[in-house]
This record gives sequence, structure tokens and C-alpha cells, in this order.
Amino acid sequence: MIGNPIAHSKSPAIHAQFAAQTGQDICYERMLAPLDDFAGSVRQFIAAGGRGANVTVPFKLQAFELATALTPRARAAGAVNTLVFAPGEILGDNTDGVGLVRDIVHNAAQPMAGRRILLMGAGGAARGVILPILSASPAELVIANRTLERAQELALAFADQSVAVVAHSYPELSGTFDMIINATSASLSDAVPDIADSLLSTHTFVYDMMYAARPSAFMQWAARHGAVVRDGLGMLVEQAAESFFLWRGVRPETAPVYQSLRSQLADQR
Ligand code: ATR
Repeated sequence: MIGNPIAHSKSPAIHAQFAAQTGQDICYERMLAPLDDFAGSVRQFIAAGGRGANVTVPFKLQAFELATALTPRARAAGAVNTLVFAPGEILGDNTDGVGLVRDIVHNAAQPMAGRRILLMGAGGAARGVILPILSASPAELVIANRTLERAQELALAFADQSVAVVAHSYPELSGTFDMIINATSASLSDAVPDIADSLLSTHTFVYDMMYAARPSAFMQWAARHGAVVRDGLGMLVEQAAESFFLWRGVRPETAPVYQSLRSQLADQR
């Protein structure tokens, strides 16, 4: 797992549990890459026998550039969180979006097909999940952002898909949504993007891609209005499982790993 900073990453613990559960003999560790030499760190790791890597902040764009081959979902995301090393090739993939969709559709049992979905935010986190959301066939995907131009750029980038993708600023939003996904970084500062209560109904499913020991201010706002809410811990585990599958060809059980992380978080309260 390559990042900077990297000390608090939960990924080594997640992959250790996947490996124990599936009997896979892997060594998965944190690597702090210098801010000015991500590519050099990856090359050294390959030379030392590394077979694959996860990549996190601030290197996901550099990993995209470094990859010699990209999956369609990594190309659409414009960012790479998983590298697979083969002789003469660095394959770049992005498992974040499929992790989000799997957590929502499978774990939370909230289908996306035919639903009206609002995606809040237009940064790297939002871009990374759009193609997998569209692949789940919603009726419509609305991208809303504080800075409207960024949402418009994203909607344009996905205009060739069969699902309608439209961009709005928060005050322009109207109607109710079946699902609202918060991909902004607002929850890091416990801020709530300025969206109207009227977008929620009691059947709205609300997802915050961030997770913490306590529900974010955004999740609390949604819950107060009767929405079903979920944080991004399951996405973390599912994106890891998809990376593990890429490297090892084996799909681990995610539920027990999710449960153990959830109880560790609860202990931090
Ligand atoms: P990331 O890679 O995590 O997506 P980013 O590219 O910096 O990071 O994007 C952060 C996103 O969170 C943006 O959509 C940002 O809105 P702007 O494009 O208008 O800046 C959004 N964001 C951050 N703080 C916010 C807040 N308090 N309210 C609403 N949106 C916020």
C-alpha cells in the first residue's frame, strides 16, 4: 500500500484477514513513498519482487500515468488505486467504484437499477465511482457540486453512456431522490453541503463515502429526515476485496472483515 502519509491505513489489516481466510500466502505492507518520487518507489518495489500494489492519496493520478495498461474503469476514473505487475507491464485498475456499488447493492440490499440517484461532489472521489454506478443502470444520475463547472465537466465526460447524466448546483436540485451518495470531502470537516431537506423522502437511501467512529453530520441530517443511512466502511472493505481478487484470483468473504473493523471503530468512541 503506497501513499504519503500511510501510517494509519487499515488496508494491511484487511488483506491479512483476507489472506488468512482464503489460505493465500501474501505479504502486504505499507510503503511511504516520497512526495517527489512515486514512480521510483514503484520501480524499486518491482525490482525487489513486488507483484502488485494499492495506491492512495496523493498518488492515484501518478499511478494512472505510470500504468502501461489501464482497465476501462480506471480510464473512466482518471485515477488508479490498484497496480498489478507482470513482466514488462504495469496494469492500472480502479476498484473504488465497484466497491461502492457492491456495498450498496449487495451488502445494503439497495438496488440501483431504475432509481434516481444523486451524486454529490465532482472531485476525484466522485469521478472514480461514476462508471460503475452507470453500469448498475440507474434511471438517471444527477451530479451536484458546490462549483457547478466541475459537475458539468464530469457530466460531459460521461455523456456517451446510455444513462442520462446531468449536472446541477445544489440550489438547482429538485424532486426527491431514491439514493443520495456523498462523494464530497465535506464530512472530513463535519460540514454538510447545502442541500434542501425536500430532496429526501422516507424511502431515500443515503450513503456517505467517508466513515468514522460516529455518523457524519451529513448522515445525521439524513437520518433526522427519515432516510436510511450508511457510511463508507463497507466500500473500503469491498474495494480491497476486488483488489485481492485481481492479484490472487480468489474472492474473500467481506462480511467478517467488515464486522471486525466496525467493532474496532465502535471501541474508539
Ligand atoms: P477528492 O479527491 O476527495 O474528491 P477533491 O478533488 O478536492 O477531493 O474534491 C473535493 C470535493 O468535495 C469537491 O466536489 C468539493 O466541492 P468544490 O468542487 O466546489 O470545491 C467538495 N467539497 C469539499 N468541502 C465541501 C463543503 N463544505 N461543501 C460542499 N462541497 C464540498
